[in-house]
Amino acid sequence: MLVLGIESSCDDTGVALYHSQRGLIGHALYSQTDLHAQYGGVVPELASRDHVRKLLPLLKQLLADTNTPLANIDAIAYTAGPGLAGALLVGASLGKSLAFALKKPAIAVHHMEGHLLAPMLSDNKPAFPFIALLVSGGHTQLIRVSQLGSYELLGDTLDDAVGEAFDKTAKLLGLPYPGGPALAQLALSGIKGRFKFPHPMTDRPGLDFSFSGLKTFALNTFQQHQHEPNIKADIALAFQTAAVETLIIKCRRALEQTGMKRLVVAGGVGANTALRSGLKELLTKLNGEVFFPESIFCTDNGAMIAYAGCQHLLLGEKDLDDAIVVHPRWEL
Ligand code: KG4
Ligand code: ZN
Repeated sequence: MLVLGIESSCDDTGVALYHSQRGLIGHALYSQTDLHAQYGGVVPELASRDHVRKLLPLLKQLLADTNTPLANIDAIAYTAGPGLAGALLVGASLGKSLAFALKKPAIAVHHMEGHLLAPMLSDNKPAFPFIALLVSGGHTQLIRVSQLGSYELLGDTLDDAVGEAFDKTAKLLGLPYPGGPALAQLALSGIKGRFKFPHPMTDRPGLDFSFSGLKTFALNTFQQHQHEPNIKADIALAFQTAAVETLIIKCRRALEQTGMKRLVVAGGVGANTALRSGLKELLTKLNGEVFFPESIFCTDNGAMIAYAGCQHLLLGEKDLDDAIVVHPRWEL
């Protein structure tokens, strides 16, 4: 079965073709980063309009590059939420209309399930069950994944998502949007140990997170020391270290509480190299294994949506009617 995947929930336009036996056939991605950079964050209406402009050309390019006639597509998977309503509607409208025109099934995919299954696009795939750490601009969650579609939320953020905290801290340091990767880059020239930031909520039991205090701590530190040399890089490093160590402490707790040995990391912050190396070290210590999506599939993309949709279609699931429905807020 050949599945077309469409992603348009935020500021990346993504399309991909995934074959149930042959794997990923091809994918194409257009990032709106430059469009939103001048505003310091994603402007929803501009995002929707740019998806309208880019989605069809991107799909045509993918079909041409992979020599795939439209008629060869067996089903269409599209991100139905969570995300920006207007942006989601662009992908959902194309997906559902195309499915209707081709008389093929369509399937709504949960964006975070896409992220969670993205490591399945790699050669070294995790087997079920596993613990998933979902870390993106909108989510910080620990999830017990028993099998496809069986997800139990173990921990969540009480305020800002970790990616959001990276972005806000980067902004206060005057770094360009998107802040996370820029802050990680700046942290490379930070002096280790100059500042020690708190590790929120690690001194009490439980698997929930809170990152807004860390961002405020960064702001206060910056205001007190802003005229000192190398201050931005040192704050970037202290912030990243505290955020990453907090995530690692909670991952360890989740693995120990559930007795699981496999950890899957997904979402944009999963591209962070400090987080990756810290978790590799932890899982080696615990005699377990950690799985990351390839960097390109950490952030939003069409391949993870095509994969997730394909797995559900193989179980006989599909949209039951032709209505175009999106869920800007949608629990996994
Ligand atoms: O999954 P994603 O592409 O979009 C959402 O669904 O949110 O994640 C984007 C988030 C942003 O907050 C971005 O700053 C963060 O992931 N991010 C990073 C890195 N790369 C992306 N944060 C820290 N270090 C990185 N290398
Ligand atoms: Zn995402």
